[in-house]
Amino acid sequence: MGELNGFVEEIISGQKTIKAYHQEETMIARFEEKNQAATQAFYNAEYYGNIVGPSVNFINNLSISLISLLGAILFLHQMITVGKLTSFTLYSRKFSGPINELANIISELQSSLAAAERVFRLMDEPPEPADKPGSVEYRDVSGDVEMNNISFGYLPDRIVLENLNLKADRGSLIAIVGPTGAGKTTLINLLMRFYDPNSGHITLDGTDIKDATRKSLRQAYAMVLQDTWLFHGTIYENLTYGNDSIPMEDVIKAAKAVKIHHYIETLPEGYQTVLNEDGINISQGQKQLLTIARAMLSDCNMLILDEATSNVDTRTEIEIQKAMRVLMQNKTCFIIAHRLSTIENADIVLVVKDGNIAEQGSHTELIAKKGIYAELYHSQFQS
Ligand SMILES: Nc1ncnc2c1ncn2[C@@H]1O[C@H](COP(=O)(O)OP(=O)(O)O)[C@@H](O)[C@H]1O
Ligand SMILES: [Mg+2]
Repeated sequence: MGELNGFVEEIISGQKTIKAYHQEETMIARFEEKNQAATQAFYNAEYYGNIVGPSVNFINNLSISLISLLGAILFLHQMITVGKLTSFTLYSRKFSGPINELANIISELQSSLAAAERVFRLMDEPPEPADKPGSVEYRDVSGDVEMNNISFGYLPDRIVLENLNLKADRGSLIAIVGPTGAGKTTLINLLMRFYDPNSGHITLDGTDIKDATRKSLRQAYAMVLQDTWLFHGTIYENLTYGNDSIPMEDVIKAAKAVKIHHYIETLPEGYQTVLNEDGINISQGQKQLLTIARAMLSDCNMLILDEATSNVDTRTEIEIQKAMRVLMQNKTCFIIAHRLSTIENADIVLVVKDGNIAEQGSHTELIAKKGIYAELYHSQFQS
């Protein structure tokens, strides 16, 4: 049943792709197959489950008949009295009753165990190791981030980042570029401490992030990912994320910064327009703009955008990043972007390649250096 449900969930969320590749029939066939298997499993469970009761009953009744028969013979030979025979029959009834019940419980227990197994598999996953005792709490982070000699791999034998060094001063805008799969997101995962590096250390405001609580570290960052997440509620609620103390002017300022204010104004109910469950009533790019505005409004001293403007046109992307400079004064921002035209005004550009920072410097410096960055940059503007 669990497998069947998982499959249904997958095909419903991937409906459009399935239709676009006209895979409806394949999926229906695959569903049929799984459904048949589930039916068979249910049938077997019920069949054997229902056999248990009658079988135990049969054995009990058989034993009673044998007892009565044997008792009768013994009585005829005057070896026992009728009273003894009756009580013995009653005792044996009392004895078999619980066995009968036990048999029923066992079959029920087995089907429950099958379901529980899935739950236990989840519970057996090792949790995130606890914070070190005596961990400090980050308060009023100013945003100096340093990475020293970081090496990291998700699997022990596959190193993704090697001997990486990075220094980001407070208030700076750091752009991370590089080919897909180079390790850009991995770098962010380490900064937020979703994973711990194999060797080397990362400091925030001079404190090793391993010596601080994860909660306070993550509170210092606002993060926007490529896949947006909006909830069912008004645009205003989505932007403030439950924090009613944010004044409306600030909300409008952030919306203007990400260039979505005018669009919101055109909606019949403006900021009070209710978004669908998955925000289906607005475009993918507009969703991204809303999530960026939300991150800007959250009271964090550092901001991470991981390909968060991938569905936004280049011109808006540049404007967002300019606005970010103003709104995010004194806040450290990490931006992962593919369109190099949009990151010209970053303080530091990091070029990640094959798990290493291949080049590091400002846009102008890197162009002058005529290295990988310059090559990437020119390849985007050849036409
Ligand atoms: N959760 C994971 N488990 C194992 N390997 C991973 C995981 N996430 C990413 N990787 C691997 O790490 C490498 C870098 O991935 P990532 O940092 O996501 O790249 P990108 O630069 O495109 O953001 C890739 O080769 C990928 O296969
Ligand atoms: Mg990535």
